[in-house]
Amino acid sequence: MTQPQTLTLNGRELAFAPGETVLEVAQRAGSFIPTLCHDPRLAPAGACRTCLVEIEGWRRMAPACATPATAGMAITSESGRIDRHRKSLMALYLADHPEGFVGSELGAPDQVYQLAERYAAPTDWPRMDNIRAGRPLDENPYILFDATKCIACARCTRYCDEVEAVTAITLAGRGSQTTIATVDNLSLLDTTCEMCGGCIDTCPTGAMAEKIPLLTAARPERELTKVRTTCNYCGVGCQMDLNIDPEGNGGRGKVVKITSPAPGTTTNDGNLCVKGRFAYDFIDHEDRLTTPLVRGADGQLQPASWSEALQRAAEGLLGVAERHGKDALGFISSSRCTVEENYLVQKMARAVFGTNHVHQCAAT
Ligand code: SF4
Ligand code: SF4
Ligand code: FES
Repeated sequence: MTQPQTLTLNGRELAFAPGETVLEVAQRAGSFIPTLCHDPRLAPAGACRTCLVEIEGWRRMAPACATPATAGMAITSESGRIDRHRKSLMALYLADHPEGFVGSELGAPDQVYQLAERYAAPTDWPRMDNIRAGRPLDENPYILFDATKCIACARCTRYCDEVEAVTAITLAGRGSQTTIATVDNLSLLDTTCEMCGGCIDTCPTGAMAEKIPLLTAARPERELTKVRTTCNYCGVGCQMDLNIDPEGNGGRGKVVKITSPAPGTTTNDGNLCVKGRFAYDFIDHEDRLTTPLVRGADGQLQPASWSEALQRAAEGLLGVAERHGKDALGFISSSRCTVEENYLVQKMARAVFGTNHVHQCAAT
């Protein structure tokens, strides 16, 4: 039997699997190493230098996110030298960042400010105003891009390429002018963008944020409550978090945003599609049916109780079967129903009405 390979992290011996990075070994062991450009769904980029650690025998510090673990490595992730590096790095990021903590629930929390506070980075270094201004990608209903908050970590562009396989956005410009753009600076709507919103979720600074909460949240700084649920748009069953403004709808609560659970925690791995992420205005839409309707003698739809509506439907279905035979009936269920509900529809078609004419729109 082969012995597990080990390394040491801050003097603690840890086993690792072949292919793991130093960051993955540290995170599995519960050791915090700060990151900005890292997303576990993406190939390591080693771009932001936030996660640098010391490795015995190595002259330079190495990015934990992009350094493969090897047997016998002796790693230090906390030291005076590392602290000085993190402090200076965050001060440099702040130098071309907008002043003040801007982010909260409008987009992802701004991790630059969180790390700057953690490592007591000086905030009085000269600032370079609007250095990344321009190319706002703004002509679309959902996604806001604030170039001034961007740190050019390329998580959004790599997500778009590696996870969505769409490559609608890219890094453009050089040096301190580097920013996010589309081909020919087209509106996102005129690119291959699928409006999945994954670039928003992965962005560590809130430079990519949602427009809908900006438009609807009267007080954006309000604390939102998260409720985990299952998306009901198709049969995949993605997990999502409803972000609820508890004071909305006269205190009944109002869904003001949908976010995905963290990557690696649910089957959809932090991803959602345009419907799951953005198409939630039906919840409070004035046209939404909240009570059954049946036609009265005058042919007009009128509100009814569930038992009245079910009775009317049963009479209608039985009437068709009597007049035209059982196979004159057909039952079509929906991929927005659960597996159990779809099972019950086919059971009702076959066992109650005696027909095999039953289908479900996703046929999954
Ligand atoms: S919304 Fe999705 S497809 Fe569009 S740019 Fe962002 S990650 Fe790419
Ligand atoms: S928009 Fe966000 S994710 Fe994209 S490069 Fe800028 S900071 Fe990184
Ligand atoms: S998180 Fe490792 S270099 Fe950015």
